[in-house]
Amino acid sequence: SLDQKKSDYELMLQTARYFGHQLKHHKNSKQVIEYIKGRGLSGQTVQKYLIGYAPSEWDGLCALFARNPAQKQQLVDLKLATKKESGGSFDFFRDRLMFPIKDKRGRVVAFGGRIIPNDENEKNNGPKYLNSPETRVFHKGFELYGLYEAKQAHKKLEQILIVEGYMDVVALSEQGIEYAVASLGTATTAEHMHTLFRTTERVICCYDGDRAGRDAAWRALENALPYLADGKELKFAFLPDGEDPDTLVQKEGRDDFETRLKQSHDFSKVLFEKLAIECDLTSDAGKSKILSLALPLIDTVKSDFYQENLLEQLARLIGRTKEQLSQKLNTPRQQKS
Ligand code: GTP
Ligand code: MN
Ligand code: MN
Ligand code: MN
Ligand code: MN
Repeated sequence: SLDQKKSDYELMLQTARYFGHQLKHHKNSKQVIEYIKGRGLSGQTVQKYLIGYAPSEWDGLCALFARNPAQKQQLVDLKLATKKESGGSFDFFRDRLMFPIKDKRGRVVAFGGRIIPNDENEKNNGPKYLNSPETRVFHKGFELYGLYEAKQAHKKLEQILIVEGYMDVVALSEQGIEYAVASLGTATTAEHMHTLFRTTERVICCYDGDRAGRDAAWRALENALPYLADGKELKFAFLPDGEDPDTLVQKEGRDDFETRLKQSHDFSKVLFEKLAIECDLTSDAGKSKILSLALPLIDTVKSDFYQENLLEQLARLIGRTKEQLSQKLNTPRQQKS
């Protein structure tokens, strides 16, 4: 119900504030703040993103609501606590650096928690990042970390940079690049792309300089094509091996990093370069293969203009005319509109 949701958002916000309070007052505070500083973040950025600390105890958050059974159940519903067989419950996030995830209206809907490296954590060896499971207020594939803050920082968002991690978003903001968002430990989904292209004209994908990052870029490209309307731009900035936006912006600073963004590749170049690697274009087998790989993708492109462009490039690669290829689309041009 509406009241339920309102109360859920309220509890999520209270929890974010509780983690923020723990960052300042918990007995591990000093060590956690050292870690944050070591990652190059200022107090201002910590406040802007409401970054906090989930205490190492099993019942930090749970103890806070110990005297209110309804709220204890609500913590479980919101996956902030886990029920025990015996009936009690314990905190879901423990001893982690906490990133509250806000929806585009600024309501806290979930958390991402990063392990803080120390001797104890080396042993228990949990996942590096733990994210809230889906709940009645959190639908993973839809939210983008940092989107609310990016919108707050700009009257009009001329471009949005999409990166892999929470740390990338906050490190970029620290350096003055306040238009980065991250998907939440998943690939960039079609819903993400839909949201992004409703919010801005230009989307630049900037994933980690590794195998996983390059795979993520390709999936993002596939997911973006149906939302690539006239006037929209989709670009890709590939980072040097082993770097991510966080490490790179700290190394080279805002100006050099933004120069990289200006030099990012157009999506069509990325599309054909990737396909050309998979197909030997000197042979008929390769030419027919690239045709079978590219046409279904081109078919999904929203903008007629971009679709024509891609057909033209494909035709040139295999020595056909655009008109010959155009007939092979499932939605032939003349029928589309
Ligand atoms: P740092 O190591 O703190 O710099 O983080 P990073 O963002 O560079 O991490 P990485 O590139 O490994 O991962 C990018 C994003 O993927 C993170 O921000 C998380 O959202 C997600 N992720 C990374 N590791 C895990 C994991 O172990 N479990 C889950 N569920 N998500 C993860
Ligand atoms: Mn859902
Ligand atoms: Mn990575
Ligand atoms: Mn990374
Ligand atoms: Mn990183």
